[in-house]
Amino acid sequence: MITKAVIPAAGFGTRFLPATKASPKEMLPIVDTPVIQYVVEEAVASGITDILMVIGKGKRTLEEHFDRSFELELELEAKGKLKELEKIRAISKLANIHFVWQREMLGLGDAIRCARHHVGNQPFAVLLGDTLMQSQSGVPATRQIMEVHDRFGGCVVALEEVPLDRVSRYGVIRGELIDERTYRVDDLIEKPTPAEAPSNLAVASRYVLTPDIFSYIDAVKPGKGGEIQITDALRMRTAAHHPMHGYRVQARRHDVGNTLDFIKTNIVYGLAREDIAPALGEFIREISRP
Ligand code: G1P
Repeated sequence: MITKAVIPAAGFGTRFLPATKASPKEMLPIVDTPVIQYVVEEAVASGITDILMVIGKGKRTLEEHFDRSFELELELEAKGKLKELEKIRAISKLANIHFVWQREMLGLGDAIRCARHHVGNQPFAVLLGDTLMQSQSGVPATRQIMEVHDRFGGCVVALEEVPLDRVSRYGVIRGELIDERTYRVDDLIEKPTPAEAPSNLAVASRYVLTPDIFSYIDAVKPGKGGEIQITDALRMRTAAHHPMHGYRVQARRHDVGNTLDFIKTNIVYGLAREDIAPALGEFIREISRP
């Protein structure tokens, strides 16, 4: 049973400056809730009870967000704002959340390596802290790949089909379809050119990893962008004949560190919220009129 998750949230957010100069991209709000809270909620809804967040410089507000805020609670209580009080208290009760610092920005593989002692000898989930996976099936995306792990063991990655001209933004797999949406992964490559890409199936921000991955992270050399890539560690592990699967998740990915996606995500989530959907819908129609 997988109960632990790692959420890397240490990246600089350079695509979102100046908003991310002094505030982490994971704290950007989608409607009224920071991205990171949705990610934690997805983990919890998937059965995770223990979360390790890997943070870097300038990310203290992430700790504060998941900590209790007695002053705010007292203030809300005194003013009789009980609904808000309930919401605020619920955040700090979501899961056991721990923090570890990634000292240098050496890449996603290195960030995951910071979780080594925390996860111990059990398989664990990884959820990238700047990406929302809006389930299209009612089952959270992380849960979907945990179920693939339950069936086949080994490592599992969430997959998404992307247009060929965009493969160079992702890790891309070569694999064989063995069941509905499920692929046996034979190889994977980080940010290939369209000519190099073995398919258009991209790794989509959720992983289940087994603890043997740490020795492969130690063994890989810096790859794309001079960074220690988790894709390269998985590639080396796969080449050593350890099983790995991919699952084309039933979920819509929103990469919130990307400005256009951020705006679109706010609209999608806003239209999914009963309290503001009617007025927001009307506003969108109004400004779209020629
Ligand atoms: C990372 C991974 C990549 C993956 C992508 C989206 O890239 O390295 O393999 O496809 O996330 O999940 P990044 O977006 O950090 O450049």
